[in-house]
Amino acid sequence: MAREIRLNAFDMNCVGHQSPGLWAHPRDRSWQYKDLEYWTDLAKILERGKFDGLFIADVLGIYDVYNGTGDAAIRQATQVPVNDPLSLIAPMALVTEHLGFGLTASLSFEHPYPFARRLSTLDHLTRGRIGWNIVTSYLESGARNLGQQAQTEHDARYDYAEEYLEVCYKLWEGSWEEGAVLRDRERRIFSDPSKIHEIRHVGKHFQVPGIHLCEPSPQRTPVLYQAGASSRGKQFAAEQAECVFVAAPSKVLLKKTVADIRRRAAEAGRDPRKILIFNLQTVIVGETDAKAKAKFDDYKSYVSYEGAMALISGWTGIDFSRFQPDEPLKHVHTNAIQSAVEAFSTADPNKVWTPNELALGLASAASVRCSSVARKPSPTCCRSGWKRPTWTVSTWPTR
Ligand SMILES: Cc1cc2nc3c(=O)[nH]c(=O)nc-3n(C[C@H](O)[C@H](O)[C@H](O)COP(=O)(O)O)c2cc1C
Repeated sequence: MAREIRLNAFDMNCVGHQSPGLWAHPRDRSWQYKDLEYWTDLAKILERGKFDGLFIADVLGIYDVYNGTGDAAIRQATQVPVNDPLSLIAPMALVTEHLGFGLTASLSFEHPYPFARRLSTLDHLTRGRIGWNIVTSYLESGARNLGQQAQTEHDARYDYAEEYLEVCYKLWEGSWEEGAVLRDRERRIFSDPSKIHEIRHVGKHFQVPGIHLCEPSPQRTPVLYQAGASSRGKQFAAEQAECVFVAAPSKVLLKKTVADIRRRAAEAGRDPRKILIFNLQTVIVGETDAKAKAKFDDYKSYVSYEGAMALISGWTGIDFSRFQPDEPLKHVHTNAIQSAVEAFSTADPNKVWTPNELALGLASAASVRCSSVARKPSPTCCRSGWKRPTWTVSTWPTR
């Protein structure tokens, strides 16, 4: 059966998202990230181009693993300066009708009670077009600035995420019954207290006794995205997410990753085909292949080595300043480097990479096309066959 491809654009409320150094290109507009028009223009272009959604990445913290400082990241605008993504969404929703919005928000640094309200508010304002990319965060610098000595241990962050989501589900799905809002002018009753329930959550990490503060929004629970690449991350995604974001450079690796996620979803009792999987792909378009290729070569000449190293060091936790730019990384094939290589190389998976090649691979992990896509927008964004969790007062587990 023919299946429809889904398209998400990928951006971040900063200058240098995934292409370090490209900010210096004369045609670059990313420095205008502070202007609302940059975002409303983008939203309108995406809607006109029949995209399903705009996925907005975010990190809280600075990339300070390379050379043990944040200087390279700061010099090259490697995801710093970075503004908060949340306030971009309402204005973009106002100028579009169908486009969905995938908001990245870390659950490691904010309590679920105010967070659930933030997302319900956005779901109301976008008329049900909001999604949440659930991240557990990977930068130590973020944790330190929020008063933690270090990040919580990797797998424990996902355990924490499970309970976080449970609190959110209770607030979104279980607190306000359908029909709780009466707006009855005659009887002067706006909402019916008998249909609004305290969630009485008592867990290992959170205690939330009260009701959700928002009336039910169009989707209640936003579309749930996840992008964990580790085994525990994929397990969490397979159990919880509707959309999974992966970064596989070749069909072989993509097939392997997708099969793994679908197998885990089936084991968790879900219909594995209902999970939408988005692969990260940079596509450079031009009127002809030759023009697109020329553009690509031009962009590659702007790649910043130190900007790329700051990014890869932050992702992997390995200080790449320990290596010469042309030194083969044959003794450092840890999982972390392997995943960086997998994410940004397009060639032989057994190749031994040098930092230089990684930098270039990162900034130029693109395919060059001169094609157009004809398709209808999806009015339901990315929600597909998702089964609403049945959180009612009587089914809540007691701890
Ligand atoms: C395509 C893609 C996009 C991601 N975007 C973000 C992001 O915007 N913010 C973030 O904190 N993590 C982001 N991540 C990282 C993951 O969500 C996850 O935190 C990270 O991979 C560590 O978890 P893991 O060890 O399970 O892989 C992204 C990962 C992928 C593959």
